[in-house]
Amino acid sequence: MAWRGPYLLLSPLLLMLLASGSRVLAVEPEELQAVVGQTLSVRCQYTPQMGAYVRKSWCRQTSVNRCTRLVTTSEPRKAEEEPRHTIWDDPQAGFFIINTTDLREDDSGAYWCGNYNASENTIFILRNITLLVSPAPSTTHTWTTAWPFIAT
Ligand SMILES: *[C@@H]1O[C@H](CO)[C@@H](O)[C@H](O)[C@H]1NC(C)=O
Ligand SMILES: *[C@@H]1O[C@H](CO)[C@@H](O)[C@H](O)[C@H]1NC(C)=O
Ligand SMILES: *[C@@H]1O[C@H](CO)[C@@H](O)[C@H](O)[C@H]1NC(C)=O
Repeated sequence: MAWRGPYLLLSPLLLMLLASGSRVLAVEPEELQAVVGQTLSVRCQYTPQMGAYVRKSWCRQTSVNRCTRLVTTSEPRKAEEEPRHTIWDDPQAGFFIINTTDLREDDSGAYWCGNYNASENTIFILRNITLLVSPAPSTTHTWTTAWPFIAT
């Protein structure tokens, strides 16, 4: 019976580690790179949801625990469109997609996708994405600067 002591002490600790581990996994930071003018397409996956519809949102982080919503769904399988952002959600399939067109350098930053709770005005974060948009490469420029090196 003595062996039960340490087991009971260790068990809550183990559960705590597992719980924090899975939480970290759920919002593991990701980095995406894109080029000016491209379209960004992000897919956010979750356990399929039955029953009352849970709205989904794409937002841009403004401080440690705040963000500005860029586009939010209002109902299942209906595209919601903002000038450069479109979102579409299928709760039965368990995913939603956000497209952002005409990427600009100042789109570089941190974004979250997740469940939006309108009454609390909170986001349950599913993905935490840092986007880096670089200037479009200029092939002509590369060629003219390379040319004198070849010539001399
Ligand atoms: C998202 O990732 C960034 C970059 O790694 C990190 O600084 C930030 O704390 C993360 N935010 C959340 C809510 O996980
Ligand atoms: C997002 O872009 C993908 C790929 O171009 C397209 O198949 C999809 O229909 C778009 N979704 C929305 C919501 O605009
Ligand atoms: C939003 O939060 C409230 C208060 O915590 C909760 O009662 C409600 O079920 C939540 N709604 C959704 C859609 O998660």
